[in-house]
Amino acid sequence: MAEVTRKIGLSLGADICWPIAFTHILERLDLAIPWKGDTVRFDVERMTIDPFDVREPKRYDLVIDRLTHWYHTRREWIKKAVILDDVYVFNNPWTVQSMEKLTTYAGMIRLGFPIPETWLVPPHSYEPVEDLEVTLRSYARHFDLGVIGNKLGYPIFMKPYDGGGWRAVSRLENESELREAYDRSGRLVMTLQAAVHPFDRFVRCIGLGPQTHEVLYDPKAPLHDRYTMAHDFLSSEERTLIDGMTLIINSFFGWDFNSCEMLHKDGVWHPIDFANPCPDSQVTSLHYHFPWLIKANLRWAVFAATTRRRMMPLDWQSFFDAVDPEMTLMERVTALVPLVRGRFDADAFDEFCATHLAHLDELTHEWFATDDALDAVRRKVGALFPPHEVEEFTELFFDRIQRWRADEAAGAGA
Ligand SMILES: Nc1ncnc2c1ncn2[C@@H]1O[C@H](COP(=O)(O)OP(=O)(O)OP(=O)(O)O)[C@@H](O)[C@H]1O
Ligand SMILES: [Mg+2]
Repeated sequence: MAEVTRKIGLSLGADICWPIAFTHILERLDLAIPWKGDTVRFDVERMTIDPFDVREPKRYDLVIDRLTHWYHTRREWIKKAVILDDVYVFNNPWTVQSMEKLTTYAGMIRLGFPIPETWLVPPHSYEPVEDLEVTLRSYARHFDLGVIGNKLGYPIFMKPYDGGGWRAVSRLENESELREAYDRSGRLVMTLQAAVHPFDRFVRCIGLGPQTHEVLYDPKAPLHDRYTMAHDFLSSEERTLIDGMTLIINSFFGWDFNSCEMLHKDGVWHPIDFANPCPDSQVTSLHYHFPWLIKANLRWAVFAATTRRRMMPLDWQSFFDAVDPEMTLMERVTALVPLVRGRFDADAFDEFCATHLAHLDELTHEWFATDDALDAVRRKVGALFPPHEVEEFTELFFDRIQRWRADEAAGAGA
C-alpha cells in the first residue's frame, strides 16, 4: 500500500482569510485516507505567477481558483492543465470565460425557471473599429427605448450583460430615468430587466459541489450586514426548491462553486443573478456563514482530489429532455435533481464524508476559537477597513463566528 500525496493548488488574488482557515483546518485533519489500495495524504500550496512551459510536468491534482475570471495568464494555465494533466478545478474555466449573465438567463429560461422579463440593447457608443460604420449604417435599426421600457414595466434594472460586483447597475423608475441611464452607459452592452418588485425575501444560495447553504440577504444594509444571520426564513418546500434550482444551475454550467440570488414575490422565487462563479468568500461579508464555506470547500476539495474526479460534462440536452412544458417549477426541479446529484456524485460524496471526514465538524468548531482564527479575521479586516476601525470590526466578525459556534453546539448552526 503506497502513500500518495494529492497536491491542492490555491489560485488566489486578494483572498486573505479563507485560505488561512482552509490550510490550518486541513493540517489539523491530518488526513490519511485509504483509497484503492493507497493511503492518500494532502499538501496545499499557494500558486505563484510565473512563465510556464505548456509541456511542464503535472504540478497539482486539484486547483481552487479565484483568479480566472480576470487574470488570463492563470486562466490559460488552468485550461492547459485540465487538457494535459486532468487537473480538477473549481470552476470550469471555459464556462467561466463564456457564460455571461445573459447566457445564464437563457439557459434557465429554457428549463422553465421564472426569470424576469429581460432584454438586451445595443450599446450607446462604440470603440471605433474598421468595419463599425458600414455595419451600423447597414444593419443597426433605430429603436425606441421608451417602447421597451413600457413592455417591461417600471421599475427596471439596467445592468451590463456580463456584470458583476454591482458594476453599472441602476434601478430606473420611469422613462426619463431609463433614457438618461442609457445615454450615460457608454460602450457597455446593457440588459434591461423587469424588477421583481416589491419582493418580500431575498435569498443567496451558495452551492459548493452538491452542498448548498441559503442565506437571507438584505441588499439595503451596509456591506458587513447584508448576509443576515436569520434562521427559519424558508419553508422546507421552499428550501427544496431553492437548493434544487441552485444545484441545477451549477451543474448546467459546470460550476462547483457559485452563488445564486433569488427574490420572492407573490409566491414565486425568481432567480435574478446566478452567474457568480467566483463568489464572495470573505469573512468580512460572510462572517457567521464563513465556517460553512470553509467546511464545504474542504469536503469537496478532499473528495474531488482523492477520487480523481473528472470535469462535469456540459450535456445540456439531458437537462432539456428531463423537463416538459406542462410541468410546474417544483416538478421541473424534482425531475432534474436526480440528474444533477448524479453529475455531482452526491451519494458517493455523502458516503465519503461520513467515512473519512467525520472529524471535520469538531476540528472546525475548535479552530474557529483559536488565536489563529482571530488573527486571520484581523488580517482581512486590516486590508479593507481604515486603521481606526480594524479592532472594532475584527471583534464584530469574530463575535459572529462565535455566535455560529454557539448555535452549532446547540444544533442550529450553519
Ligand atoms: N430584476 C431585479 N429585480 C429586483 N432587484 C434586482 C433585479 N436585478 C438586480 N437587482 C438588484 O440589483 C443588485 C445587483 O444586480 P445583479 O446581482 O444582477 O448585479 P451584479 O453586478 O452581478 O451584482 P453582484 O456581483 O454583487 O452579485 C441585485 O443584488 C439586486 O439587489
Ligand atoms: Mg448579483
